[in-house]
Amino acid sequence: MRDLMAVTARPEVISLAGGLPDTSTFPAATFAAQMTRIAQESAAEALQYGPTEGFAETVDCIVEVMGAEGMLPDPDDVIVTTGGQQAIDLICKTLVDPGDVVVCEAPTYPGAVPVFCSYQADVVQIECDSEGMRIDELERVLEELDSEKRRVKFVYSVPSFQNPAGVTLSLARRRRLVELARHRELLVVEDNPYGLLRFGGDPLPPLYQLDGGDFVIYVGTFSKILSPGIRLGWAVAPPPVMEKIVLGKQAADLCSSTLTQRFVQEYFAEGRWREYIESLIEIYRGRRDTMLAALREHFPAQATWTEPEGGLFIWATLPDFIDTSDLLAKALREDVAFVPGQAAYTDGRGHNSMRLNFSGVDDAEIREGIKRIGKAIAEQVELYGTLTGERPAQQRTHHPGTPGREGEEEAPSPPGSEAAGSGKDDEGGDVLPFRRAGEESA
Ligand SMILES: Cc1ncc(COP(=O)(O)O)c(C=O)c1O
Repeated sequence: MRDLMAVTARPEVISLAGGLPDTSTFPAATFAAQMTRIAQESAAEALQYGPTEGFAETVDCIVEVMGAEGMLPDPDDVIVTTGGQQAIDLICKTLVDPGDVVVCEAPTYPGAVPVFCSYQADVVQIECDSEGMRIDELERVLEELDSEKRRVKFVYSVPSFQNPAGVTLSLARRRRLVELARHRELLVVEDNPYGLLRFGGDPLPPLYQLDGGDFVIYVGTFSKILSPGIRLGWAVAPPPVMEKIVLGKQAADLCSSTLTQRFVQEYFAEGRWREYIESLIEIYRGRRDTMLAALREHFPAQATWTEPEGGLFIWATLPDFIDTSDLLAKALREDVAFVPGQAAYTDGRGHNSMRLNFSGVDDAEIREGIKRIGKAIAEQVELYGTLTGERPAQQRTHHPGTPGREGEEEAPSPPGSEAAGSGKDDEGGDVLPFRRAGEESA
């Protein structure tokens, strides 16, 4: 991922790889006015160290953001961190001992994988479908771990517009997960950078709201609703956990940037932060639609992909014989980049999937980028046909597009069987939820 990000910094590369919000629309005049005010009115403080927990005024802004999604955290339970990334790191630092089990989605946020690995967690990934993590599968795995006398430290989930799959945990599953956490006294880490970036459909309550903060540790960030450059995020946790997180942060970096905390305070005092999010939503909705149209036009018939109702990412799955890490090398020669699916797994799965970002580049670049990737895929498909004599279009991949199930070869279900008839999995999630090339979007 690090190498990839270095390559995508080259200006000629169309990067569909990063998770970059579009910061180009942030009004420069507003930014200049706010920074000037800070320089004039609170320079000494903005240039000084601050409290490890963050300024109380920054926490007020965080409480306001969480309130917009129906959450009411106690300000004393909040710590300001250096991005959501540090919050994940500090939670692991606090809770995870080598060999502890951490459960997460399959696929999971690629940036969380190295954190879990660096604390030597034993990562167990639970399949996702169109309704997010399969909670029935989670229950089965928890019971299996019980029988091995292994206790899970926490379940990590990105329930809304997940990075990387773009899927959202349904309300019924959110309720079940929270019930399960309460029943088993199991901690859930809810990472929610994208909840406010909804383009369609009805808002869903965060796990933190459903649980009331007893078993859910919450991670948030200003990165996707304001700026990743300010490097400010937060964690919300009950006091015994928070005490340790604060100690861990003190050891890590003493405090997060006081300068950018002051900027956040100025920005929120203006009272237009929700308007800015609305403007981002408009832009991202259009770009998502552009990418979906380009995928229909340029990806082969066997490809499938998710259709997110928010966030920044689409997850595409290609025929099983295509390795997206190899494909990336080819794509980079065409000056286009994406994240290969394997980055979202700890066990080598995801080899024929890719994460595509639609927020960081404009419509023309999205069209051109997808066209170039489509061309690289077409070459791989043709090569496969030449080498094997098979016509890949006749291959059947089971559960196309469903994160975590890509490439499973299976005989077609007999007509009238449950899988063939309903297209649902055991929990009601759609196993065939995604568009194929050439199909019109609903
Ligand atoms: C799910 C998720 N968590 C955490 C982060 C970290 O973001 P930051 O450290 O910029 O807040 C990201 C960034 O893309 C993300 O997608």
